[in-house]
Amino acid sequence: MSERWTPTSWRRLPIQQVPDYPDSAALSAVERQLASFPPLVFAGEARKLKQNLAKVAAGEAFLLQGGDCAESFDEHSADNIRDFFRVFLQMALVLTFAGGSPVVKVGRIAGQFAKPRSSPVETVDGVSLPSYRGDIVNGIGFSESERVPNPNRQTEAYRQSAATLNLLRAFATGGYANLENAHRWMLGFVKDSPQSSAYADLAQRMTETLDFMRAIGINPETHQEVRQTDFFTSHEALLLGYEEALTRVDSTSGDWYATSGHMLWIGDRTRQPDHAHIEFARGIKNPIGLKCGPSLKADDLIRLVDLLNPTEEAGRLTLICRFGADKVGDHLPALVRAVQREGRKVVWSCDPMHGNTVTASGYKTRPFERVMKEIQGFFDIHQAEGTHAGGIHLEMTGKNVTECTGGARALTADDLRDRYHTYCDPRLNAEQALEVAFLTADLVKRERKQHEHPRIEAAE
Ligand code: PEP
Ligand code: CO
Repeated sequence: MSERWTPTSWRRLPIQQVPDYPDSAALSAVERQLASFPPLVFAGEARKLKQNLAKVAAGEAFLLQGGDCAESFDEHSADNIRDFFRVFLQMALVLTFAGGSPVVKVGRIAGQFAKPRSSPVETVDGVSLPSYRGDIVNGIGFSESERVPNPNRQTEAYRQSAATLNLLRAFATGGYANLENAHRWMLGFVKDSPQSSAYADLAQRMTETLDFMRAIGINPETHQEVRQTDFFTSHEALLLGYEEALTRVDSTSGDWYATSGHMLWIGDRTRQPDHAHIEFARGIKNPIGLKCGPSLKADDLIRLVDLLNPTEEAGRLTLICRFGADKVGDHLPALVRAVQREGRKVVWSCDPMHGNTVTASGYKTRPFERVMKEIQGFFDIHQAEGTHAGGIHLEMTGKNVTECTGGARALTADDLRDRYHTYCDPRLNAEQALEVAFLTADLVKRERKQHEHPRIEAAE
């Protein structure tokens, strides 16, 4: 590890979760071509996200990260992107209002294609084929021709990412994302929700605040901050050949940046300190996420923090905790204490999805109440440790799918078959995602009150 880093230095190390491409010459040709294509994002944007995340690490902002478990080629439509973005903005609005501080918005989108799998093969009726590893690698259909990894899919993923990002940029800066729209959509949600009374109070206060702002002349026409929003992209840095091809030197700083997305994260299955994925991540300057699951010990975490953020750069590292509702209390406190003891500054984020997957009626699902229970546990632990519950990381969609049970409409295991569309893990649907935002807003507010309280006392 102490050897010099280059975009290719990961290649000499052991690696997990690599697709078995039958034609290595074809793979190299695609990687060479990708290396000649324009970057999708540029270094200045990644630096801006890092600055925003530094505020989260300092307890002055909240991170909202979310999107599909896996994007797919088939579901690449303007409607899907718009519906996701709309829900995401509403969630951000609710959380901003509750926390009285900025919400850093990061989508799992425009590049979230590669999936780690628990087994390299899938067997159906005695037939074994390579597991589906995401549309950037192979097809989801259970046939030999679909499942053989095809490098041309990387080019398609790149082009889809570019088109998605283009629309997101237009939404974010072109006026669509203005605060008054987000507020109006949010009111529509509250009106239709079976739980509307639970959200009415916060919604009413937001309306009054916006009325007041309008009355004193702060509106989308007059103020860019009300008209536009910052939105960043992220995905798991799993397919390293693709990532390497899009890793470029930034001409202003001379540093290397992954240009496939603003923030990249390392999955729970590929975070071995002496393996390829950590090697790749340590050399790029983007903000990095690290998934922390139940098998991660405090000492190993500190080693990873050292590797990924040796210069203790603020906003560089986000620890995305995914223990499960029943395990968060057993695992998170030790990690928080170790990081505090070592005096490291990180963003603590909660992924309440990946530790709470169960099977019901033959479907992989996640009960809404377990998702909320893990978030609640995450906030309780940070409150007890005096640290900042920095963010949430969700698998969600803007569509009205039926993949997670529970929520205000009390989806049952029997309902799952109605609209179960995910390419990988079960996602919160639009309503469930907004419910999470409203319920998390209460926790954010609680943390804010707790921090304000000592200041008020000191002033007396
Ligand atoms: C994911 O985020 O889709 C994922 C596979 O997560 P994890 O690495 O935490 O299992
Ligand atoms: Co997932």
